[in-house]
Amino acid sequence: MSTSLRFAPRADVCVAEVIGSLAGAEGAAAVLADARTRLMEPGGLVIPHRAVTLAAAVRLSDLLPDQPVAFAESALHYLRDILDWHGRPFDVRLRVENPPADALLSEGAPVEVLDFNGDLQTQQCTTTGLAITRPGLVDGVLTWLNLWCLPDDEPLDALRMKTNWATIYLPLFDSPMPVEPGDVLELTFAAALSDDRVHPDYQLQAVLHTADGRQHRGSLVSPHHGGAFRSHAIYRELFPAD
Ligand SMILES: C[S@@+](CC[C@H](N)C(=O)[O-])C[C@H]1O[C@@H](n2cnc3c(N)ncnc32)[C@H](O)[C@@H]1O
Repeated sequence: MSTSLRFAPRADVCVAEVIGSLAGAEGAAAVLADARTRLMEPGGLVIPHRAVTLAAAVRLSDLLPDQPVAFAESALHYLRDILDWHGRPFDVRLRVENPPADALLSEGAPVEVLDFNGDLQTQQCTTTGLAITRPGLVDGVLTWLNLWCLPDDEPLDALRMKTNWATIYLPLFDSPMPVEPGDVLELTFAAALSDDRVHPDYQLQAVLHTADGRQHRGSLVSPHHGGAFRSHAIYRELFPAD
């Protein structure tokens, strides 16, 4: 692990591939902040340059047209291995393969920004207003990665390109809420270091402001480890009690 390495002289360049589908999920902020402080020359170059997690309002079933909301059969043995390894069941983050772009009910907005060569924050909290652009139903957000290897590159976009990174659906409301253009999903997205001081726990809070002046609240706690089980309706559906 780089965090327990010591060497001299210091490095001019660090190349790392610890970027998650939620950009910081694999601990890139803490790992690379430590590498910059202890192992690199001041002004040394980190590759990749920048990673951003974006989020947009969605309804899960719109992301899976003509398919039931269920785990893919090919994923089941990974799921069993993960839950066995952990020792007890928990609400795994939900990867959605090839979501249709027209299922998004808002533009994508940055909710987590990792500037590996700039002001790199190991913990952050962003509040953003996702303006609803078309009528529909919303029960959560879809998140995806934008990754710049070098500053002037076109970013890799995990929603629009075929990449190794997943788009992740994060539930917020137990029942889908009707929305129309002009409504705003106010999303607070926080990444705080877990007790291992490397991997972030994520916490989301949402307030849906609808045209009738009402506010509907939703939330999700998605920790790196030790998370809840059947915390949302979608997890009770995916993991029925019997
Ligand atoms: C996403 S994988 C990269 C895979 C690699 N690009 C490849 O093609 O095989 C991330 C790897 O980084 C390693 N890793 C994570 N944190 C690290 C750290 N602080 N120091 C060194 N390696 C680390 C993990 O064990 C894992 O093997």
